[in-house]
Amino acid sequence: MKRALLTLTALALLAANAEARTWAEIKKSGTVKIATEGAFPPFNVLKGKQLTGFEVELAEALAKQLGLKVQWTTQPFDNLLIGLNQDRYDFVIASHGINPERAKAVDFSTPHYCTGGAIVAKPGGPMTAAALKGKSVAVQVGTTYLENVRKVPGVGDVKTYPTDTAAQAALMAGRVDAWVGDKFTGIDLVKAQGGKVKQGDLLFNERVAMAVKKGNSGLLKELNAALAKAQGNGTYAKLSQKYFGQDVRCR
Ligand code: ARG
Repeated sequence: MKRALLTLTALALLAANAEARTWAEIKKSGTVKIATEGAFPPFNVLKGKQLTGFEVELAEALAKQLGLKVQWTTQPFDNLLIGLNQDRYDFVIASHGINPERAKAVDFSTPHYCTGGAIVAKPGGPMTAAALKGKSVAVQVGTTYLENVRKVPGVGDVKTYPTDTAAQAALMAGRVDAWVGDKFTGIDLVKAQGGKVKQGDLLFNERVAMAVKKGNSGLLKELNAALAKAQGNGTYAKLSQKYFGQDVRCR
């Protein structure tokens, strides 16, 4: 946590020195550079060489609406906002929940979905915040799950993993008592494991958004307009239905 705080502070300082591409520059180039993790199904996932998932398809639909081609970059989750502030790409779509610490380092779009962090454990394992007392929990490093699980009174060992899927694997292998992650991811995990695990309580809610470099208001405005349009013309609803069987927009 301390390390994450330092990183984001350093990031806020870095942001002052470099120039992000403006909307006019992006438009002129004809290509928008987008970064994601590619290891967070069903939102962003790299299957072989194919990048797919709800956020990948949504970002591509937004770019299309803006008349732009897409150049994707994948980065470990922990590096995504740092790379953004080093101008390696124009925006990030990787399920970042809006929180005050991140909002100091980057600017967020209007949220592209609403969700929460939920517990998953084996039957008989901890299913509520109270039951996490003294229990070990697996979470992905650098996430809001880590931040929120640490706040659970009396929680046992909180173990971090480089990817969310590695944190899930730790639960399945019995190396921890519970996993905390996205509630929709949790639903998929329970389904995939066919009853070997169960979903417990929601620990917190969050609004998830795309991130641009701080001050890149031209690009942010275009992204927000494209998202509003996609949410108005059925594009968003169709994608959401495909991945979740429901509409995950914030209401
Ligand atoms: N929503 C959580 C957060 O804001 C998890 C995001 C994880 N994203 C990813 N691509 N692994 O921290």
